[in-house]
Amino acid sequence: MNHVRRPASPDMLAALESRRSVSAAALGAPGPDADETARLLAIAARVPDHAMLVPWRFILIEGEARGRVGALLADAYRAGNPQMAPDKREKFAGIMSRLFPAPLAVVVVSRPAPGTMIPDFEQELSAGAVCMNLLTGAKAMGFHAIWVTGWAATHGEARRILGLGEGERVAGIVHVGTAAEEPGERPRPDLAALTTRWAPPG
Ligand SMILES: Cc1cc2nc3c(=O)[nH]c(=O)nc-3n(C[C@H](O)[C@H](O)[C@H](O)COP(=O)(O)O)c2cc1C
Repeated sequence: MNHVRRPASPDMLAALESRRSVSAAALGAPGPDADETARLLAIAARVPDHAMLVPWRFILIEGEARGRVGALLADAYRAGNPQMAPDKREKFAGIMSRLFPAPLAVVVVSRPAPGTMIPDFEQELSAGAVCMNLLTGAKAMGFHAIWVTGWAATHGEARRILGLGEGERVAGIVHVGTAAEEPGERPRPDLAALTTRWAPPG
């Protein structure tokens, strides 16, 4: 059997080597149109998935839904923090109301299938891979993006507002749009300190 290596993809390598997140607050129009969003989700869904359980799903938040979700989250924050000083509570409620500034937010919902041989951890990793593919796909399309979680992803009432059901968790909220300027670099891990070559134990 003759194994023939495929040609390298310089564009893909350059994209992978330069990807950076951009704060959701800095993401404006343009965002993906309907066809681009469908393509982005198809890329996102193209992840390893042990036993093909499809242990994730998407909730899209775009257009006027962004403000409506934000308003409900702000109300939930107020209701959930009655003991807080009013000015502080309003400050955070305001932040909740503006949680979806980018043209598109994809809530990646992790939903491990119960009663299978595949550990939940592996199924959650597949949901993480979906988030990562969204970031990489957005970059390939010329958009900026970020993967976040935070209060809206974990608080009980916020989860209900987002549309999560029993046994579901937010793996990530991936905001997609366009930044006014390219983000700078950030310190990267010291790979030499993190990488060893296997040696026999003992
Ligand atoms: C599961 C997960 C949740 C995250 N949640 C947040 C978040 O809520 N807010 C935030 O600013 N960054 C969050 N981050 C980090 C950003 O996605 C991003 O990795 C970080 O800003 C570093 O930028 P870089 O992707 O350009 O290296 C999260 C990352 C992961 C993997």
